[in-house]
Amino acid sequence: MLTLGVLASGRGSNFQSIIDSIESGFLKAKVALLVTDNPGAYAINRAQKHGIDHMVLTPKDFPGRDAYYSRIAAELKNRGVELVILAGFMRIVGKALIDQYRNRVMNIHPALLPSFPGLHGQEQAADYGVKISGCTVHFVDEGMDTGPIIIQAVVPAYHDDTEDSLGSRILKEEHRIFPCAIRLFAEGRLCVEGRKVIIKGDRKDFAVTNPPLDQ
Ligand code: GAR
Repeated sequence: MLTLGVLASGRGSNFQSIIDSIESGFLKAKVALLVTDNPGAYAINRAQKHGIDHMVLTPKDFPGRDAYYSRIAAELKNRGVELVILAGFMRIVGKALIDQYRNRVMNIHPALLPSFPGLHGQEQAADYGVKISGCTVHFVDEGMDTGPIIIQAVVPAYHDDTEDSLGSRILKEEHRIFPCAIRLFAEGRLCVEGRKVIIKGDRKDFAVTNPPLDQ
């Protein structure tokens, strides 16, 4: 069974979708620890409700980024964490953690990377006027939302969309694809070659457009 560590800063709905996927049997995994940088994160309530250990670690209590991310890495290692999940963790993860978990840190981003990285991906996409947007699960490297892409889901974007309307359409897809990406990892089906993630046994029959095409 795969041992997960989750980092989250806020509401934690993606964390919840992972918990639900474990409890339904879709994911053969357990969450050993939630780490949050925000003592008020609703994700803490979710951890408590499901009997998951949590820790609040805030950067201001550490002398620097290295010390902060080394401590997080140590806590995760102590609990046997094999895969680290960034479920709405609103910081650029430090090298000290990435080095310990190379190609074993996954993030979800609310846009189709490499478009609209950073904060407020949904708002950036709505303001830009794209016709499709979506979300991306990727491995984390030292850059901001730059690591190898595992799964993307698309949603239509409409001219009258706001950050909230587009964001809630995207969030539904986040809750679907994040557990799927973790499951692929748990099944040993993900292989990183340079920038590319090769998924063993994937299907190649996909097409989508918005607006719909006539033929
Ligand atoms: C999600 O939309 C996630 O994609 C986004 O924060 C939200 C967290 O929601 N992450 C980022 O923007 C990271 N750059 P949640 O706390 O309900 O899972």
